[in-house]
Formats: sequence, C-alpha cells, structure tokens
Amino acid sequence: MSQIECKDISVKYENQVVLEDISFSIEQGDYLCIVGENGSGKSTLVKTILGLENPKTGKIVFGENLNKNEIGYLPQQTQAQKDFPASVYEVVLSGCLNSRGFNPFYSAKDKKLANDMIKSLGIEGIKKKSFRELSGGQQQRVLLARALCATKKIIILDEPITGLDPTVTREMYNLIKEINKKGITIIMVSHDINFAINNASKILHLKKNIKFFGNTEDYANSEVGRKFIGGAEID
Ligand SMILES: Nc1ncnc2c1ncn2[C@@H]1O[C@H](COP(=O)(O)OP(=O)(O)OP(=O)(O)O)[C@@H](O)[C@H]1O
Ligand SMILES: [Mg+2]
Repeated sequence: MSQIECKDISVKYENQVVLEDISFSIEQGDYLCIVGENGSGKSTLVKTILGLENPKTGKIVFGENLNKNEIGYLPQQTQAQKDFPASVYEVVLSGCLNSRGFNPFYSAKDKKLANDMIKSLGIEGIKKKSFRELSGGQQQRVLLARALCATKKIIILDEPITGLDPTVTREMYNLIKEINKKGITIIMVSHDINFAINNASKILHLKKNIKFFGNTEDYANSEVGRKFIGGAEID
C-alpha cells in the first residue's frame, strides 16, 4: 500500500480551477520533487495533502502506517513567519504540537526530541536567540528541525532554499538528503530543476494538471522534462 495516494484531486478558488484531476501516489522512502512555474498549483497541492485546503473533488488516502498528524511541514516563507516573535527552542518545540491534539502542554519527551533535533541540525549555538533575529539560512534550519519534530515518516518542504546563498543551500540540501537516507519520505517543492534532476527519485511536474509523474531519469528523457530543463515554457 502506498504511503499517500492522491485520487482525482481538483481544487478551485472562487471561479479559478487551480488543480484538476491530480492522481499519483507516494511510496515510503521516496524523494519526490514537485516542479512547475509560478502559480502552477504546487503549494496548493501540498496544502491539500496536509488537509489545509479542501479539494472540490477526489480524496487523499493515507497508508495504514501514516496518520495525518505525522507529516512534518516546512511552509513556503512569508514575511509574517520570518518575524515570528519566539525563541529558536520554542519554534522547534512547537513542531511537537502536531501530535498533541488538544493538549497544549509539552511533555519531557517532546522537550528531549526538540533538543535532539536542535543538536542534530547544529543550531545549539542559537537555541536561545529570537527567531526573527536570525539569517534566512538559520531560520530555514530551525524550521527543518521543527518539521522533523513532527514526524519520523514523511516531511513536506515548500521551497526550503529560497533566498539562501550557495553554501547554505548546499548544506540544506545535504541535510535533506541525510534525512531521506534514514528512510523518511521527502516531498519537496523546488524551482531548482538541476538539483531535482540530480537528487530526487521521482518528479511531479504540475501545471494545473499533471504534465509528468514518474522516475527522475524518465523525466529527464521526456519531452516536457527536456523542455523545462532547457528553460522553455510548458503548454
Ligand atoms: N487562498 C487563495 N485564494 C485565491 N487564489 C489562490 C489562493 N491561493 C492560491 N491561489 C491561486 O492559485 C494558483 C496556484 O497558487 P499556488 O500558490 O499553489 O502556486 P505555486 O505553484 O505554489 O506558485 P509559486 O511557485 O509562486 O509558489 C495561483 O493562481 C494563485 O493565485
Ligand atoms: Mg508556492
């Protein structure tokens, strides 16, 4: 059984159809990159998987071993999120809220998990700093640690490297690869097509509907893949 299966998903805002007839499935351990131009529905698709958007038609089916609240999520950044007035530790710890249901109190286990993630992502030195005073790269690391507190199974990243310099980008990518090697499924929205081709195991190319879904190698050899890699617009 697939870890996540999207069946005939359509999403509409007012009178605009944003996603149409989206069907694909994700297996445990996959590294899926979702690509496509601005406004093609990538963020809407991941929000639908997370249950933050209601599809007009279709449904998302989770595998037996996956609960909806066991998905780690690093959202596409907005200015408001960048200005979040809390410490690094508090932001990471809030990743544990996912699994707490209506219980607003953190357990000793949650606190240990947050500290472990802070350690493994190398952000101990800034643990007490205010999130909004960090650089963009530090903020993304903190948000990755937060997403990892929510899951041992699957993590969804919406453009995690936007605005980062090449060195920090490489570090982020390496961290994500390490996470995938531990068996955690990665779903990453990315505009970095060359990175996607070289690192993802599967590609989903979106433009309202699916232009391609399958293995990365097949994508690189497909008409849509070759065009997109070459910088051409996709009809
Ligand atoms: N809350 C909303 N209300 C109305 N329209 C929306 C809403 N959210 C997204 N849209 C529209 O849906 C379409 C898809 O948006 P989405 O954010 O999913 O695109 P995207 O592929 O993530 O783009 P980008 O690469 O710029 O992040 C766009 O035309 C956008 O204007
Ligand atoms: Mg987006």
